[in-house]
Amino acid sequence: MSVKIAASILNADANQLEEEIKSVSESADWIHVDIMDNHFVPNLSFGISVLESLATKKVKPLDAHLMIENPDVWAPKFVEAGADSVTFHFEAAKDPSKIIKEIHAMNARVGIAIKPNTKLDQVKEFLSDIDVLLVMTVEPGFGGQSFMFDMLDKVKEARSIVAKKQLEMWIQVDGGVGYKSIEQAANAGADFLVVGSAAFAAEDPGKAMRELRDLAIKGSKI
Ligand code: DX5
Ligand code: ZN
Repeated sequence: MSVKIAASILNADANQLEEEIKSVSESADWIHVDIMDNHFVPNLSFGISVLESLATKKVKPLDAHLMIENPDVWAPKFVEAGADSVTFHFEAAKDPSKIIKEIHAMNARVGIAIKPNTKLDQVKEFLSDIDVLLVMTVEPGFGGQSFMFDMLDKVKEARSIVAKKQLEMWIQVDGGVGYKSIEQAANAGADFLVVGSAAFAAEDPGKAMRELRDLAIKGSKI
């Protein structure tokens, strides 16, 4: 299990996004871009143009996390805008299989995200077709919340399915991932860890991201 880190720019300084990304680029493998529509979640964030602008800079692969209604229509548009991976919420999708096929046909990676109250059983039938399962470890909508440790059972269950069926799927955790939780999350089987405010609210984001990455690697080996 190789650990991948995604830096979530939701709580980065929007006035100097490029600088912020550069500060963590040594330890982050992906840039995680949270897309919110104030319907699926009670908040608004980035839209397609931010993703397009980041894509032209080609700093890191872009991981778009769609917290929006109607991903059936919107998911392909984020690939067109330059996302290398698009994750949509199961709870918002009308036809998950169709979205998965469509994104794959565009040569991008595709993920399914589940909110804390959504059970793994509800998405089991899709696990062999997706590249990423995102287990939300907070209620989606805002950065800076506390990690829900009771979600680790879901991560463990997902890891055992991946092992048993020998799937390629990555298991992502997002929300409250930081010094107090990253090691345990990796130990439970998460191999794609989204880090937001734990790095960007730190005095030295580069140093924080390095330390968090080391903790994740340590957790994955226990
Ligand atoms: C929450 C977002 C997260 C958020 C993570 O709805 O999906 O990606 O930015 O931020 P932290 O790490 O601060 O919880
Ligand atoms: Zn996210």
